[in-house]
Amino acid sequence: MRVLGIETSCDETGVAVFDTKHGLLAHSLYSQAKLHAEYGGVVPELASRDHVRKLLPLVNETLAKAETRPDQIDAIAYTAGPGLIGALMVGACFARSLAYAWGVQALGVHHMEGHLLAPMLEDNPPAFPFVALLVSGGHTQLVDVQGLGQYQVLGESLDDAAGEAFDKAAKMLDLDYPGGPLVAKLAEQGRPGRFVFPRPMVDRPGLEFSFSGLKTYTLNTVAEHALEDGLPDEQTCADIAHAFQEAVVQTLAIKCRRALQQTGHKTLIIAGGVSANTRLREELEIQLQKIGAQVYYARHEFCTDNGAMIAYAGAQRLLHGQREPLSVAVHPRWDM
Ligand code: KG4
Ligand code: ZN
Repeated sequence: MRVLGIETSCDETGVAVFDTKHGLLAHSLYSQAKLHAEYGGVVPELASRDHVRKLLPLVNETLAKAETRPDQIDAIAYTAGPGLIGALMVGACFARSLAYAWGVQALGVHHMEGHLLAPMLEDNPPAFPFVALLVSGGHTQLVDVQGLGQYQVLGESLDDAAGEAFDKAAKMLDLDYPGGPLVAKLAEQGRPGRFVFPRPMVDRPGLEFSFSGLKTYTLNTVAEHALEDGLPDEQTCADIAHAFQEAVVQTLAIKCRRALQQTGHKTLIIAGGVSANTRLREELEIQLQKIGAQVYYARHEFCTDNGAMIAYAGAQRLLHGQREPLSVAVHPRWDM
C-alpha cells in the first residue's frame, strides 16, 4: 500500500509518500518560519493562506521524487488535529478532495500520534511496548505505549509545553522564532555553573511537568543582569541559555527515568520538536544506560513537523483496518 501524507497543523507544509513494502519513498517540507518570524510567533491566518499556496506544488514535487503516479497512491493521510483550525481545514479539505478525485481512501491522523511513531521511520526502529516522551511546542507528555492506538497518558505539563518554554526563553534573550534551536545553539557558549535554575516538580512524586515557573525565573535573571538596552551582555545571555536548557533537560530526564521505572519498560522514545535537542538526547543516553534502558529518536528533520510521520501513521492505521466516511472533520483540540 502506498500512502500520501499531508501535514498542515501549524507552520510547516509537509508532504510524503510512504510505501508499506518499500518504506519512505520521498518527502518534502516547506517551512513558513520566515513568514512568521517578524511577528515573533505563528499568525494563524497567514499560516492557512500559505498552506493553500504550497500544497499542490509540494504534492507534485513529492510524487515526482517518489517516482509515483497518482494512480499508484492507495490512500491519503492528513493531520486532523490538534493544531490551528484554519491550517487543519486547509489540509483536510485538500486531502479529502484529492482522495475523492482519485477514488481512494482518506484518513485523518492525530498529529501527536504522528510524532510518536516518527522514530519507526528509522533503520533500527523501537519495538512496542515503550514509554514515549512527546515534547513539542504544544505538548509535554509521557505516554505508556502498548501498541498502535494503545496509549495511556502517564503525565503531562500543567502549564507551558517544553518547546513553548524554549520559545519564550528565546524571546527574552532577543532570539528569533522558533527559538528552541537558537537557545540550544547559544547554550553551547554558556559556562556551566554560573547560574543554576530550578528543576520544577522533580521533588514531588508523579509524572506531571510545569515550566511556567522556570520561565519566570529566566525572566528575572535576564532583568537582574540587563544592561541599558534591556539585555545582559553576550556571555551572560549564553550562560542563561545554558542554565535554562540544563534545567529543562534534567527535569525531562528525571521524569523519563521515573516513567520507565513505574511501567517496567526498557525502551523510551522521544518525539516532537524538542526531541531534536542534542543535550536532551545526550543526557537521556547517559541516564538510561544506568538503568539498562535505551532511548530512540527520529532523525532531526522528523522530530519537528513533517509529512513523513503522517504518511507512516496513516499507513499503520489503514493496515489495521481503519476507514473513515467522506466528511471533512478536524479537531483543533484532541486528546490522544
Ligand atoms: O513538533 P514541532 O515542530 O511543532 C509542534 O507540534 O509544536 O515542535 C516545535 C517546537 C518549538 O517550540 C521549537 O522551539 C522546539 O520544538 N524545538 C527545539 C529544538 N528544535 C525545535 N527545542 C529545543 N531544542 C531544539 N533543538
Ligand atoms: Zn508537531
